[in-house]
Amino acid sequence: MNGEIKKQEVKRMFDAIAHKYDFLNHFLSAGIDIYWRKKALKLTRLKPGTILLDVACGTGDFAIEAKKMGVNKIFGADFSFNMLSLFKKKSDWIIGKNVQVAAEFLPLKNEVVTNITVAFGVRNFYDIPLAFESFFRVLKDEGKVTILEFSMPKNFVLKQLYRFYFHSILPLVGRLISKDNSAYTYLPDSVEEFDQKINLVKLLLEAGFKEAERKDLTFGLVQVVIAIK
Ligand SMILES: C[S@@+](CC[C@H](N)C(=O)[O-])C[C@H]1O[C@@H](n2cnc3c(N)ncnc32)[C@H](O)[C@@H]1O
Repeated sequence: MNGEIKKQEVKRMFDAIAHKYDFLNHFLSAGIDIYWRKKALKLTRLKPGTILLDVACGTGDFAIEAKKMGVNKIFGADFSFNMLSLFKKKSDWIIGKNVQVAAEFLPLKNEVVTNITVAFGVRNFYDIPLAFESFFRVLKDEGKVTILEFSMPKNFVLKQLYRFYFHSILPLVGRLISKDNSAYTYLPDSVEEFDQKINLVKLLLEAGFKEAERKDLTFGLVQVVIAIK
C-alpha cells in the first residue's frame, strides 16, 4: 500500500473504531494484551527519572501501565484524534501531554526522552525506517525503544489456529461490534505480511541503534523488541 494511502486509511480506521477499541482489544485477546504490555515494560527495566514517549499511544494503555510502574513523566503521540481523546479522558492523572502527530515526524527537540514505547502500532506505520530515525533523534544517549507487536507463531498447529482465529472469528466479531467493515480484516492481513517482510531488529540497527534484541512471548504470538541508542 502506498505510504500516503496507508496513512489516511489507518487514521480513518482508528478514528472510526476508537469508541470500541478498548473493549474489543481486551475481549478479542481474552485480556492477554494487558499481560503483554506489563511484560514488555518489565523487560525494558525502566529507570528512575524516566521520560517516556508512548508513540501510537491510542487510548493509552501502555502509558497507563508505565504510570502504574512509577513513571511520572509520560507523553503520548498518535495521529488519531479520537483515540487520543479517549486517552485524555482515561488519564488526566498522567503528567505530560498528548499530541496528535505521526510517528514519522515527531515534533520534539533532539535527545529529550529516555524511553520510547510502541504497542501494536509499528505494524501500522506508513514508513517504519523514517519513524525509527525520528525515534533515534529524540532519544537521549543510552535511551531505549520498546516495541510490542504481533507475530506469526512458528508452530504449525498454532499457525493454523491463529489463521482461523484472525481470519474468521476476529473480523466477524470486530465488524459486529465496531461497525467498521475493514478494521479487523486489515489486522490479520497485515500481521502475516508484516511477519514475513519486516525485521524490526535489523531496521533499528540500520537507524543507528547500537543494540537491538527480540524476545517472543506466548509461543510467538507477539514479539518484544528492545533497542538501545
Ligand atoms: C492498535 S492501536 C494501539 C494503541 C495502543 N498503543 C495500545 O497498546 O492499545 C494502534 C495506534 O497506532 C496509531 N498509529 C498508526 N500509525 C501511526 C503513525 N504513523 N503515527 C502515529 N500514530 C499511528 C493509530 O492511530 C492507533 O491509535
